[in-house]
This record gives sequence, structure tokens and C-alpha cells, in this order.
Amino acid sequence: MPPTNQSLSNALVHLGRGPADQGRSVNLPLHQCSTLLFDDLAGFQAAREGRYEKGTLYYGRYGNPASFELEQMVAELEGGHGAVSLSSGLAAATIALMAASQAGDHILVADNVYGPTREFCDSVLTKFGVQVTYFDSMSVPALSQALRPNTTAVFFEAPGSGTFEVPDIRQIAATARDHGALSIIDGTWATPVFCQPLALGVDVVVHSGSKYMGGHADSMIGFIVCTEATYGTMRKMALAIGDKAGAQDVFLSLRGLRTLDMRMKHVVAAGLEVARWFAAQANVSRVLHPAFESCPGHENWKRDFSGAAGLFSVVFDPCEEAKLHAFVAALKLFSVGVSWGGFESLVLPVTPYRTAAPWTLPGRVVRFSIGFESTNDLIADLGAALPLLT
Ligand SMILES: Cc1ncc(COP(=O)(O)O)c(C=O)c1O
Repeated sequence: MPPTNQSLSNALVHLGRGPADQGRSVNLPLHQCSTLLFDDLAGFQAAREGRYEKGTLYYGRYGNPASFELEQMVAELEGGHGAVSLSSGLAAATIALMAASQAGDHILVADNVYGPTREFCDSVLTKFGVQVTYFDSMSVPALSQALRPNTTAVFFEAPGSGTFEVPDIRQIAATARDHGALSIIDGTWATPVFCQPLALGVDVVVHSGSKYMGGHADSMIGFIVCTEATYGTMRKMALAIGDKAGAQDVFLSLRGLRTLDMRMKHVVAAGLEVARWFAAQANVSRVLHPAFESCPGHENWKRDFSGAAGLFSVVFDPCEEAKLHAFVAALKLFSVGVSWGGFESLVLPVTPYRTAAPWTLPGRVVRFSIGFESTNDLIADLGAALPLLT
């Protein structure tokens, strides 16, 4: 069972701190290692045999005490059996997809997933003989229709990248399961604080820990969180590929996770305040935010999520490109950057690329990540720059 929201803050503080004999420091130290030493051959052989199992110390690439602590912590936050830590969120998505398919299989991918995940499917999976088709994650009947006898996985994201519509996680997971296919969700936006997809029936959750989970815009890390049934396959694929989270990123993630609950509490409130302010502005045609009733799938969000991240988009009335540049340049507290979920506020124009359910909303979509600056000052900054868009 995933921790309840009440116990989640306790779990974030107390999990992942290593055994009591680790030393007296509050934090697990940075664990930098490649070679691990054994007292005798029998010990080495036992480790070799158990190297695919959770927690077996064999060689640095297979894990070390700090990475195992972090993985177990993330697994418990999600209510999973185990987790695998990788070098990036993209590696988590691609390795999960590789573990769930082989040549001749078909996989279904929601057309609103993170762009590079799509690129991987189109450029790598297809090259190795996996058929990939895209579906509209807001239509479960469309998903059912797109299933083929050889469909082995359904990959989706909640909410959709850049456009924030919220699919029905339970229905998608159930549809995949009834067909004998694995459901994999990119749960980066919500983090385990706001949504725990395994409890909704999803088989595998992938996260970019480079966002809120690390939380400080400095670590690159990804996680695949698994049920007991999927853990072995996912871990073996990660090891076969040879991907691994670096020691420093493991350390930074463990540190960042301590404050995840507090940070999410801030961004849910600050994000909504800024989003509501945007909704009242003249040149804003729509705010794409799951907590807004106008957001497709708002009912799904209300049912399955306990909060909203500080990442949302605004659709501005159509305007010339030069005006968009002037608006962004005039912002003093928002910087341009592709990531999100750190302490700093960010702005990024996005172009939704959709093939199953074409994006038809006119206007310019701009994504905002709300950080920890004063919310009043952020709104004042936006207010001063907004006239440049008209
Ligand atoms: C939803 C989502 N998933 C995955 C990723 C990839 O994560 P990483 O940058 O850690 O590879 C991103 C990055 O922007 C993302 O937005």
C-alpha cells in the first residue's frame, strides 16, 4: 500500500536513510563506488548468483547501498515492490518500453507523451522491429479499438505533456490488463505526493527525478517503479542496457526528496494563484491546468489526484512571434529552460505535436513552471510583460 498523504511526509523524512550502523550523520553519505570487494570466493559467487535481486551488492553498476536505499524509498512512496534508478527520466521511459516489447510486438503510446519518448519509439523501437501506434489518451474506446493481438504495452502520461488533459488512469490500465498488455505511465508531473498510479491498477510508473523529486534543477535521474510481477524484467533490462544513476545524483535525490511534500504544497497553491490570475487577463484564451473545470479530464484529476503541480500552460490569443520574444525577454523572474520542477520559475513556448487527436486550439501555447519566488512578485512580473503580447 502506498503511504497515505498524512504518513507520506513522515516517509519522506525517515525512509532511505540507511541502516543504523551507517554512522551518525542524518544523511546517507555519497556512495561512490565501482568495484565491491568480497572476503572469499563463496561470498562472491553468492553475490553473482543474486545480482539481479534487489539489494544484492555485486558491482557498482548493479547498485550500491545508497542507490538501493533510494530505490526502496521511491518504491515505497509509490506503493510498489521495487524501483530501478537510471541516468535520466528519458532512460526510465525507454528502458521500460524496451523491457515491455520485442521484435514483432505492437505497443500503443499516447500521442501527448513527452516528445523525446515519442522520438525514441519512432527512431529506435521501430528500428528493432516493434510496431508503434499512437492513441488519444482521452478516449478509452479509441484505445480499445487500437489494440492488436500482438499489443504488449500501453504507454501514457498523466496529465498530457504541455497540454495537461487528464486521462482516466484506471480505465486505461484496466483496458491494457484485460488485453494482457502492460500499462506504463509517466507520472513525473504529479509525483507520488499527488498520485499513486499503481494503486489505480497501472503496472509500471516511470518518473523523471530530475524534476520535482530532485527539486533543485541540478540532478539528472529517472526511476522505474514496479509491482512484484514487473520488477525483475525492468531491472534486467536496465542492467542489460548498462544504464545507472550516478552516485551524486542518487545523493542529491535522497536529499531533494526530504522536502518533496512541502515543495508540492507550495507549488499547488502558487501555481493555482498564477493560473487563476492568467485566466482573468484579456489576451488569454485558455489556461490548461488540470484543476480548472475547463480542462479536459478535470473530473479524472479530481478523482485520482490529491493536488496539482506548479506546471501548466496558457493559450494566448494568436500573436506575432516577435511579440512572444518581447514578452519572454521582459520577464525578470522567469527564465527560459526546457526542464521544470526546480525552485526557479520557468517559461517555455510549446508546440503540441499530436497525431491521434490533432491539436486545433488557435493561439500560442506557453508553459510556465512556478517556483519559490514571491507569488505576488511573479504575478507583478507577468503583469508588466503581458501588454507586450498584444
Ligand atoms: C513528463 C516528462 N517525462 C520525462 C522527461 C525526461 O526526463 P529527463 O529530463 O530526466 O530525462 C521529462 C523532461 O522534461 C518530462 O517532462
